[in-house]
Amino acid sequence: MSSRPIQIAPSVLPAEFSRLGEECKRLEDAGVDRIQWDVMDGVFVPNLTFGPDVIHACRSHVEVPFEAHLMVVNPDELIHKYVEAGCEIVIVHAEACTHLHRTLSNIRELGASPAVALNPATPASAVRHVMDLVDLVLVMTVNPGFGGQAYLETMEPKIAEVASMIELTGRDIDLEVDGGIGPATAPGSAAAGADVLVAGSALFRDPKGLAHAVEEIRTVAEAARG
Ligand code: DX5
Repeated sequence: MSSRPIQIAPSVLPAEFSRLGEECKRLEDAGVDRIQWDVMDGVFVPNLTFGPDVIHACRSHVEVPFEAHLMVVNPDELIHKYVEAGCEIVIVHAEACTHLHRTLSNIRELGASPAVALNPATPASAVRHVMDLVDLVLVMTVNPGFGGQAYLETMEPKIAEVASMIELTGRDIDLEVDGGIGPATAPGSAAAGADVLVAGSALFRDPKGLAHAVEEIRTVAEAARG
């Protein structure tokens, strides 16, 4: 069981796009630990979102770390742009990298934290030989491309498998989950070993506000770990 504190990483997909800088500040003031930018190229996933300039424009509005979740077919050509835009963590999909080991090494050389994401159908074994290179493994709990999808409980054994792989390394590696995370689903992910929870809809749709949603998800996740 992870002893690392639960971290809340909001997705800004549900945010008000005409006021993204202010929305980042609202999230920081609500107590989030980092902000995740879902970068989509319309090819790897059927949606198109944030370029590096949009992220750079928001960088000075907050202090919390930015992570770029690159749901793109050509991460090698884009990584440096998102690092320059102010993303401290860069997440690439194992499915999009012909040479994942080299891509992760390149992220480190650029001064950012390398991270790798696994789509629901991709086995944990896909990252077995790069665990020495990463600071974060993201287990997708939905098929990527859109917010507001239903959580895939069937991913919990994979979360536990990745947690075991992380434990064997003895390295300080975040285990992140993303998709359908809210008060009802965070406990299952946390109990399986997740310590960084990405949430979009559950945060922005909480009628009691962002701070309440952040605290509620953190509390139920911590409680589920006993
Ligand atoms: C999928 C996206 C979503 C988003 C969170 O590509 O990565 O998972 O961040 O969406 P919610 O929290 O609304 O399911």
